[in-house]
Amino acid sequence: MNLEAMRFIKKMSKLIITLFGATGDLTLRKLLPALENIIKNEKHPENVTILAIGRRKFTSEDYLNFVVESKLFKGDINLLRKHLIYVEVDAYQSATYENLHLLYKGLTKNIADVRTIFYLAVSPELFMPITENLKANKLIKKGDLNTIIAFEKPFGHTFEDALYINEYLEKELHRNQIYRVDHYLGKEMIQNIIDLRFSNTLVSALWSNKYISEVKVIVSEKDGILNRGAYYDEVGVLNDMVQSHLLQVLALLIMDIPKSLSSKDISKAKIKALKKVKYDASNSLLGQYDGYRQEKGVSEDSLISTLAFLTFAVEDKRFAGVPFYLFTGKKLAKKEAYIEVILKDAPGSHLFKNTSANRLIIELAPESRISLEINGRTDGNNNEVSKLVLDHCFTCLFPSAVKEAYEALFIEMINGHRTLFPSWEEISVSWDIICQIRDEKPRYIIYEPGFNLGGKNE
Ligand code: BG6
Repeated sequence: MNLEAMRFIKKMSKLIITLFGATGDLTLRKLLPALENIIKNEKHPENVTILAIGRRKFTSEDYLNFVVESKLFKGDINLLRKHLIYVEVDAYQSATYENLHLLYKGLTKNIADVRTIFYLAVSPELFMPITENLKANKLIKKGDLNTIIAFEKPFGHTFEDALYINEYLEKELHRNQIYRVDHYLGKEMIQNIIDLRFSNTLVSALWSNKYISEVKVIVSEKDGILNRGAYYDEVGVLNDMVQSHLLQVLALLIMDIPKSLSSKDISKAKIKALKKVKYDASNSLLGQYDGYRQEKGVSEDSLISTLAFLTFAVEDKRFAGVPFYLFTGKKLAKKEAYIEVILKDAPGSHLFKNTSANRLIIELAPESRISLEINGRTDGNNNEVSKLVLDHCFTCLFPSAVKEAYEALFIEMINGHRTLFPSWEEISVSWDIICQIRDEKPRYIIYEPGFNLGGKNE
């Protein structure tokens, strides 16, 4: 049961979520299912309205048929039917927002408490025009913290681009009306990094170069670029995965204890951490899968990378000498995502046969689980040990209790919290790191689809 959202709805009498990019893959695969769950768990579902915005001339029923026919949405279409209205808007044309404005007026008439989320699942070129048109049509007003806008990643295609967009947004809106989305922060196991690190003596005592020998963050994907060739050929793996998701994970792994768990203090700690990150070009590589250039929407001489193996050092006393590896790619042997912390040998390990390095593994996919591998006595052998795995698999034990990342993000936005959203300063430091990689390009390879990274159990 979604208690946080329920509490919110008790206070608010109307929640309107407006989705720009309603016909896009992300809306169909992730946003609609997340909203469906939110509605299902609400005490007052009748208070929730979803406005799906697109350029196509659809009625709401046409849109729902489109959703079903896409086969990407696997949820309950009849539930959506009760809450969803399709509105035709051309994002660039202010006059076309008139319908949206009228609809809003109708939906919110005589209602004092309205929470409005505009979710922009569109490319960054549209962030400024949409914001401008929402303002011009009185759908959002600077400083009204009950009306917010969420910007899906990528937040700009280059640092300059991101800076320009951000300056515009911070001029036109209050800072707290701007939510920059990075869905990795909504993943339970990513949120768990903070809990694990700072609430356990066992983990926090080990968290330094005295005990850690290396750390890997692996996101291996089996899929290629699906039907997103035009998008992907502009961003590549560095912007698509590293600048956002993986550097956020790295920041959580290396940051100091924040003053409190408030979004401000966590963000401060992450920024400080990211500023210490130094990329090591000689131990990194980028690659492209064979066949990528033949994908729809991709240029035939594209040099965009679909794989990144990046090595970083953290320039402080605590992590001096510990390599941090970020590894991600498309068209690999399997879909698997995890963080692996490998510890140094114990001082007495030479006394035993068959020891293996202790490892802490935080798995994001296919399951959500935490496991700690230690050495333990093997029956009948005095000095031989074997690997024991202390394992807690959240998704195996409580499949429905693990929220999907986007659902967690919507709940955070509904409640007006910001911890699961990166601040502009975090994004800006991440861009500095991407610039280091662009300035000093590592080795480049072409790899065969199905390339096997090895995996945590191989
Ligand atoms: C998205 C990227 O942000 O994250 C995709 O645009 C990538 O290219 C996806 O596949 C990975 O997310 P997840 O949740 O499947 O690990």
